[in-house]
Amino acid sequence: MSEIPTLEDLEGRLGGLSGKRILVRTDFNVPLDDSSGERVITDDFRIKAALPTINWLTERGATVVTASHLGRPKGEPKPEFSMDPVRARLAELAPGVELLENLRFDPGETGNDSAFVDQLVDGIDGYVNDAFGASHRAHASIVGPPARVPSAMGRLLQNEVDILLGMRNDPKRPFVGVLGGAKISGKLGVVEALLDVVDSLVIGGAMCFTFFAAQGKPIGDSLFEPDMVDTCKRLLTEAGAKGKTLHLPDDMTGVDADGNFAQFGSRIPDGGKGFDIGPGSAAAFTDVIMDARMVFWNGPMGMFEDERFESGTRTVAQAMADTKAYTVVGGGDSAAALAQFKLDDDVDHVSTGGGASLELLEHGDLPGLAALRGEAA
Ligand code: 3PG
Ligand code: MG
Repeated sequence: MSEIPTLEDLEGRLGGLSGKRILVRTDFNVPLDDSSGERVITDDFRIKAALPTINWLTERGATVVTASHLGRPKGEPKPEFSMDPVRARLAELAPGVELLENLRFDPGETGNDSAFVDQLVDGIDGYVNDAFGASHRAHASIVGPPARVPSAMGRLLQNEVDILLGMRNDPKRPFVGVLGGAKISGKLGVVEALLDVVDSLVIGGAMCFTFFAAQGKPIGDSLFEPDMVDTCKRLLTEAGAKGKTLHLPDDMTGVDADGNFAQFGSRIPDGGKGFDIGPGSAAAFTDVIMDARMVFWNGPMGMFEDERFESGTRTVAQAMADTKAYTVVGGGDSAAALAQFKLDDDVDHVSTGGGASLELLEHGDLPGLAALRGEAA
């Protein structure tokens, strides 16, 4: 792999940054709450994470123009997806820094349309990708500019890549992967790829019901993906063949057929629904995390937004904080859970990317990185 240019390389190539107009692709896709009738940012972590790059550039006299997507407006301008709340927050954190309107208001962004790239780099002297969380997307603003103008990776992108590739290429053992969330389908590649690098994989969240179904256990009315049952069967066999341990929960909490809170084993009765791992599984998962030397966690163990079903996720989050292992958390939901439990300062790294961190662990590369190395997308 050829080297990715750094901010210093860009400064050298442009003969200094003073007076230069630099387009910085950031991932300002922040969570918003509109229940008050006004869109309020509930977590500005992704905005703050871009400040080291923005400040480095402005301190050297560059005019910084930031650009991001927000949500999925599907190629047309929609006021409920405007960057206004982000722009207001950015103005407080980095006065004088411009922010373009939502890149996904133009279908050329997700379509990686070359005319849209031309428009983005018009009047721009250099480009910086600091949007780690979006660098797994081969979208115009991610893969287009490096072929047009001198380009570099920003500090956030660099740091994320160093940490996640470090885990992938130089794991400390036991290396434990902890996966949760509802869907196995989106994470299939990474489950397989993780089986090659981790020593054991802990699986919670609704995706465990698809594994239970693969084991022939009754799952009641719990959420599962029927199309993925065969794949889960294969993964269970593959894990065994590779000598890896797959830890599945053996107790669950949820609701019974009448909708009342209930505790189950790993067999969910008719009409019942599992919403969280049970206390026995949470304790067992804690042991695995405490004995690890490296842990990567993506996806909550249950429906932690409901306080009846937060306990599994809270226990795993606490174990992540307490273990001596090197701990990395990727993904908006797990990061939000850590923040909710005020444990976000107690892990070694909270990644700004969910899908991006999984894909980087899986492939060891991302479209955004390849573009910065000068390779065609
Ligand atoms: C994210 O929030 O995961 C990134 O900003 C990417 O967003 P996307 O999944 O809508 O492409
Ligand atoms: Mg720790």
